[in-house]
Amino acid sequence: MSTISHDQDWVRRPAAAGEGTLCDAAEYEALYARSLEAPDEFWAEQAGRLDWVQKPAKIADWSYDPVDIKWFEDGVLNICHNAVDRHVEAGNGARTAIIFEPDDPEGETRHISYADLQREVVRMANTLKKMGVAKGDRVTIYMPMVPEGAFAMLACARIGAVHSVIFGGFSPEAIAGRVEDCKSDWIVTADEGVRGGKPIPLKANVDAALEKVPAKGVLVIRHTGGAVTMKDGRDHWYHELSRDVAADCPCEPMKAEDPLFILYTSGSTGKPKGVLHTTGGYAVWTETTFRYVFDYRPGEVYWCTADIGWVTGHSYIVYGPLQNGATAVMFEGVPNYPDHDRFWAVCAKHKVNIFYTAPTAIRALMREGEGHVAKHDLSALRLLGSVGEPINPEAWRWYHDHVGGGTTPIVDTWWQTETGGVMITTLPGAHDMKPGSAGKPFFGICPQLVDADGGVMEGAAEGNLCITRSWPGQARTVYGDHERFVQTYFSTYPGKYFTGDGCRRDADGYYWITGRVDDVINVSGHRMGTAEVESALVLHPKVSEAAVVGFPHDIKGQGIYCYVTLIAGEEATEELEAELRQQVRREIGPIATPDHLHFTSALPKTRSGKIMRRILRKIAENEFGALGDTSTLADPGVVETLIEGRRNR
Ligand code: WT7
Repeated sequence: MSTISHDQDWVRRPAAAGEGTLCDAAEYEALYARSLEAPDEFWAEQAGRLDWVQKPAKIADWSYDPVDIKWFEDGVLNICHNAVDRHVEAGNGARTAIIFEPDDPEGETRHISYADLQREVVRMANTLKKMGVAKGDRVTIYMPMVPEGAFAMLACARIGAVHSVIFGGFSPEAIAGRVEDCKSDWIVTADEGVRGGKPIPLKANVDAALEKVPAKGVLVIRHTGGAVTMKDGRDHWYHELSRDVAADCPCEPMKAEDPLFILYTSGSTGKPKGVLHTTGGYAVWTETTFRYVFDYRPGEVYWCTADIGWVTGHSYIVYGPLQNGATAVMFEGVPNYPDHDRFWAVCAKHKVNIFYTAPTAIRALMREGEGHVAKHDLSALRLLGSVGEPINPEAWRWYHDHVGGGTTPIVDTWWQTETGGVMITTLPGAHDMKPGSAGKPFFGICPQLVDADGGVMEGAAEGNLCITRSWPGQARTVYGDHERFVQTYFSTYPGKYFTGDGCRRDADGYYWITGRVDDVINVSGHRMGTAEVESALVLHPKVSEAAVVGFPHDIKGQGIYCYVTLIAGEEATEELEAELRQQVRREIGPIATPDHLHFTSALPKTRSGKIMRRILRKIAENEFGALGDTSTLADPGVVETLIEGRRNR
């Protein structure tokens, strides 16, 4: 995989791209300037597209020292009303909100109109209330990619409950940790999920998690009809409990700074953090970014292939598109089932106009050849998007030439769970593109590159990416641990938000994300803390120490490389290797399965006992010539042994 970047390698936006788009180059410049010069006016105006119970008079009110972030503070609104009811009230109830495409291509496609959506969300909301859920309660949602997952999120928002969605690929251990951390008494799940024809035992996973932590109620949606055990008094079938609920449910008026959701994400240390987003700022940010980045036009079909378990699903399957009255495809399956053309078959079937996916999927499909693309009529595609990790120029070109027919613009959107929505991207009608570069800052975003000492770097430079001002969609805190929020994001460079990413800015002011500079790795667009994998490994009684690093992987972007030392007297066997893989899957989930387990008698340490990860990273990358200074190692001989071990695999 090449990471060479060619500054001069422009791809011009099609001449017609500016026509009819919301924003051409001059408008972008003007709006961007205004968003910085008059942020209150600018954001009051954007917020004006939403329905408010009480319009906000206070707009931005934030400080990074001490850290206290508020937007639209005296405003009152409900995001579910904005995503659902207001479209029905405006006479657009018959418009399609969600097109559901099941895992099985022979299965039933569902078209859910905004009126249907309203009915379904009300039913779910009243059922949650009937189970006992109240405003402010945390509700865990552990669901397959079916519309009921979105109904559950919107139902929580409707009644003022705080959702915490957990990706369906996480293990019972991971569920238990998250349920416990946010003290969530309520779970919404399904009997099973299906992906690529294989069932996923969601309810059984919840049962296993609830052996470790208590819950008051579990609402179970029947999806596959697979067998589950129901615990009396705790577990309720949705189709039974919802039977006689009322057909209306008012949207709870929420203060702008009332919590909307918690989403767990990995950092460089400790357990995953519950990133907290609040109502008003997140609503405005997702509505505005979706509108401009995807340049959505009424009637168009938009498809984001993410899972609702990640922030991309929250912001760009549910809240962004629906607040814009868009038609969004929700896909239950995987790109390679039943064959490698499934994405393109679905695009053709539903005449998708805007398609948003991850580089890892593009690379995997690219490997299978363009024949799979050529089989399908993709002429409806007008805009492509990429998200989750840096896209290498080859994959960008392939996506552009074969999927986009050589003309369709690509938006490479850089953002994070903590940013709530897109921060850096080109806009389709405003900017020419450079394959591999995310592009320019979105309205209101002030990126800054700083060196290791915090020195601000001007012009063309490469450094650590910070954001100097707040924006409406910014996370407000780590649930239950504000100090951790402050420490993680605002202490490295005081007074700035530190993203954890490295970045280069070229002479044209385009940003090129180079990847994480902390101990976070990005595996197939999934963010993982190396410390989490290490903790899982050392739980095994035969393991003494573990050090985990990322290494370049052709398809996944990064793979997981684990160095493991064993307790004296224990032997590295194939069984042990299998046990350790299993251990990580059990603790975290299949997405964290190690690619390499490298047993070693010692790890490179400084004389004070600190593991030198820089060296381990280089060895995992097969970069033996670039190990840097090894003179501070307690035992320099360790390095030779490790290189030897790496060469032999
Ligand atoms: C990390 C955030 C953005 C939602 C999905 C992931 C990396 C994300 C890009 C991009 C280069 C990217 C960064 C970031 N990343 N998008 N377009 N180009 N890198 O959200 O799990 O919070 O991960 O993903 O390293 O910090 P997340």
